[in-house]
Amino acid sequence: MNIHTYEKLWLVAAMVLIVGFIATITYGSVGLGIAMVDDSEDTLDPNEINDHEQFGDPGVVQVGENEYEAYVRAQTWTYNPNTIEVPENSEVTFYVTSPDVIHSFSLVGTNVNTMVIPGEVSSMTVEFDEPREYGVVCNEYCGQYHHDMEGTVEVVP
Ligand code: CUA
Repeated sequence: MNIHTYEKLWLVAAMVLIVGFIATITYGSVGLGIAMVDDSEDTLDPNEINDHEQFGDPGVVQVGENEYEAYVRAQTWTYNPNTIEVPENSEVTFYVTSPDVIHSFSLVGTNVNTMVIPGEVSSMTVEFDEPREYGVVCNEYCGQYHHDMEGTVEVVP
C-alpha cells in the first residue's frame, strides 16, 4: 500500500464522518418519534405570573383534535408541572417561562431545547409520534440545586 492509497482512505473516512455529522444535525430527532416544528418568544411580567391565566395554573390544554398547549413554569429548582403528560401522535406547543432566574427546558436526547428567561415566554412546537418518556433537564446554571432540576414529558398511548 503506498501513501496515495492511505490518503484516499483518509479522504473517504473524512467524508463519511462529515456526512454522518450533517445527518445527525439534520435528522437528529428522527427515530425518537419527535420533531421540532417551530420556536419563538413572547414577553410576560414575572411579577404577574401567579395571576396569569395559564401560568398561574400551568398544565396541558387541548386546543385541537391532536393539538395541545403545555404551559410550564421553570423555577428554582423544578418544573411546574413536573410531569407533563401528552398523547401519542400529538402536536404540542410548549410555553415556558420563569418567575426567578434563567433556566432551560431541554428534552434529553433530542434537539428540543430552549433557554427560559424571566420576563419572556419561550415556545416550541413539537410532534410526538410514539409513546415514550422524555427527561426534562435544565442546562443553564441556576444555583445550588441546578443539577437536581428535572422533569418528565410522558407521551402516552
Ligand atoms: Cu434551572 Cu439550572
